[in-house]
Amino acid sequence: MEQTRTLTPRTAVIWAVLRAELDRRAGEQLTVLDVGGGTGGFAVPLAEAGHRVTVVDASPDALAALTRRAAEAGVAERVRAVQGDGDALAGLVEPATVDLVLCHSVLEVVDDPAPVVAALVAALRPGGAASVLVAGRAAAVLARAMNGHLDVAAALAADPDGSAGPRDTLRRRYDAKGAVALLTAAGLAVEEIHGVRVLADLLPAAVADGQPAALVELERALAARPPYRDLAAALHLFARRPA
Ligand SMILES: C[S@@+](CC[C@H](N)C(=O)[O-])C[C@H]1O[C@@H](n2cnc3c(N)ncnc32)[C@H](O)[C@@H]1O
Repeated sequence: MEQTRTLTPRTAVIWAVLRAELDRRAGEQLTVLDVGGGTGGFAVPLAEAGHRVTVVDASPDALAALTRRAAEAGVAERVRAVQGDGDALAGLVEPATVDLVLCHSVLEVVDDPAPVVAALVAALRPGGAASVLVAGRAAAVLARAMNGHLDVAAALAADPDGSAGPRDTLRRRYDAKGAVALLTAAGLAVEEIHGVRVLADLLPAAVADGQPAALVELERALAARPPYRDLAAALHLFARRPA
């Protein structure tokens, strides 16, 4: 599966966490739901590993690309593409039927994250797991400051949602405490938190592109360790619906 693909600073830490869950359930064909799964960067490898994956996404273009990608990988029969909204999963996915739900880089763009998380939890079987990736707040403040946009950095740091205002492409960003609170309030038990892209966005391109394997290794070494974790461009939370 992911071993056959190039692991990047964005994917290596997440795949390491997912791999542990897949190993724990080895021999089972899991029912996977990828909410806002886009073009299938995770869905297709999971289908290649033998699991059944439903991708619910608001974008017909993304779903068309997903369908092409699944066909090219020879796993079209295990990938279902559904156009729909993340907070209306009940009408699209049978409640309490999903073993693993993914929701990567979605909660920062939706109108309201709480109903989306509630819908994820409702889709999960008791004991099922959630892989949630959200934009990191501290990294966004640092990035704007380092680019010379001190006013934007200040606005972002002061905003309760971690957004820099109407021109910001994201509606909100999270620190670990806020992300844990969001998932916990919906009934999930958070088991692991990792930083994703602790260093990758800070390095000169020549370093990141010149030493990709060393960078992935260092990202994996730092991912679970505060304060490095908390400075990452994104936070990955692995959580479970209590059995
Ligand atoms: C930044 S992309 C992330 C794609 C993929 N999860 C990844 O990590 O590469 C966000 C995706 O969420 C989808 N999306 C945005 N709002 C949504 C919503 N309310 N319900 C379902 N999908 C949504 C978009 O169409 C897009 O494909």
